Amino acid sequence: PVGTRSYHAKVIDHYENPRNVGSLNKNDANVGTGLVGAPACGDVMRLQIQVDPETGVISDVKFKTFGCGSAIASSSYVTELVKGKTLDEALKIKNTAIAKELSLPPVKLHCSMLAEDAIKSAVKDYRSKRQVKQPTLGPEA
Ligand code: FES
Ligand code: FES
Repeated sequence: PVGTRSYHAKVIDHYENPRNVGSLNKNDANVGTGLVGAPACGDVMRLQIQVDPETGVISDVKFKTFGCGSAIASSSYVTELVKGKTLDEALKIKNTAIAKELSLPPVKLHCSMLAEDAIKSAVKDYRSKRQVKQPTLGPEA
């Protein structure tokens, strides 16, 4: 059947054995949560990173994706990519690299875009949290 043949083996592997599924405590000051949706299809991806505040390295990452197989595979693959990377390195991950690794067909490119957006959103959330937590050097300091 056309349906099974249109999916590459790597997509199927990540879809059937997704890595790093789950949640981190979003109230933890060192956790950044990204929540993004794909307007085209309504799929939603939540991706969370645990950051070591000293080194800025992503020490843990979890995701939950409510969506198609390609979106689940993209998020699973991206969790493997970002673990052990710095925030700046994680921001450089492009959806085209994800799509290439998983051999996604053109109609599924937006699924990998969701994974890139989710990482960016998680890093942004982490950074905005840290800014709020910075001590202010007022007269009372
Ligand atoms: Fe996203 Fe099918 S369109 S699950
Ligand atoms: Fe929309 Fe895959 S079909 S995320």
